[in-house]
Amino acid sequence: MLEHHANIVPWQQLAAEKGARLRVAPVDNSGQIILEEYEKLLGPRTRIVSVSQVSNALGTITPVKEMIEMAHRHGARVLVDGAQSVAHMATDVQALDCDFFVFSGHKIFAPTGVGVVFGKSDLLEEMPPWQGGGNMIIDVTFEKTIYNVPPARFEAGTGTIADAVGLGAALDYLDEIGMENISRHEHELVQYGTAQLLTVPGLRLIGTANERAGVFSLVLDTLPPEEVGKALDQEGIAVRAGHHCAQPILRRFGVEKTVRPSLALYNTREDIDTLVAALQRIQAGAVHAESKLGRSWEDSSSFDLPSEAMPRKRECRHGLANSLNTQLELGPRVGDAKALPFGIALRHATGRSAEHGQIASDLCRILQSGFK
Ligand SMILES: Cc1ncc(COP(=O)(O)O)c(C=O)c1O
Repeated sequence: MLEHHANIVPWQQLAAEKGARLRVAPVDNSGQIILEEYEKLLGPRTRIVSVSQVSNALGTITPVKEMIEMAHRHGARVLVDGAQSVAHMATDVQALDCDFFVFSGHKIFAPTGVGVVFGKSDLLEEMPPWQGGGNMIIDVTFEKTIYNVPPARFEAGTGTIADAVGLGAALDYLDEIGMENISRHEHELVQYGTAQLLTVPGLRLIGTANERAGVFSLVLDTLPPEEVGKALDQEGIAVRAGHHCAQPILRRFGVEKTVRPSLALYNTREDIDTLVAALQRIQAGAVHAESKLGRSWEDSSSFDLPSEAMPRKRECRHGLANSLNTQLELGPRVGDAKALPFGIALRHATGRSAEHGQIASDLCRILQSGFK
């Protein structure tokens, strides 16, 4: 259930091809896998379990060691998706006893387009190549090709050499700092950040499992995640706002999108304080703007202003924001996040109901008075 789409879609494709059935391990309200329920899904027909060690959407650290033991008791193989764990904790595939372990280079500060697939050697020996070409052979005649031994068997063609060099450098860099040190530092930040974020009024943290790494997933009760993301951007804070390629798990918590600040070895407590202070300002600004407009937040995916306002929209973006700041008396309360009231007002102007029509004309009046 916690999986990134990258650990869902390929299995759906394979299941469609082979006639297999996907079964999904549920999570509890903290975003942790329910081990007893997971075990009930295992049976003699279970061929493979595929699970993330850390959820990219919630940060949950899953109990992969126990899950692997359970799967092996039922004769199933296990693939661990380590895309979000490798940069945050030490990885020991032998201690885990996983059959496969995969991660992408760009998750550990290496270039994109390169990654790692670990497989137990007896399994790799049994597996046919998945692509043909140079390097993956021992001998070729027109009658017959003898394939190379693993891993060369699986690496047809010329590899992405520069990226692999970058990946090696990134791994050396992390090794030098020490994954235990990184993990300790980030664990402390997650604890601190969780406590601080929960002081922001109207903030809901999605994913509250005891064991978490790397990210906070949150929503504010005033503004949709995209608006919060834009407002944070205005404050110089980069976050991802959206579904994080993990729609099933967000829907499990009744949301389509969240704001996701993420942590790495270079972050500090001061970064968290800056984030929390910005969220406090954004939330206060949004509440204030809503009370000035006299209407609560209405989400709408369309972004069309009433026709009178259209020509001014692009032309006067900053002016509009200033004008709205003045009109709504937001001023410096939201720092320099001028896009915030602008965004709110625009969103209020969307939709076609009578009430929205009224909001739109209010907005036009505000805009016009600001641009005489
Ligand atoms: C947990 C997890 N698995 C898989 C992926 C997919 O990685 P890539 O885009 O390199 O295939 C990601 C990327 O965000 C991820 O977070």
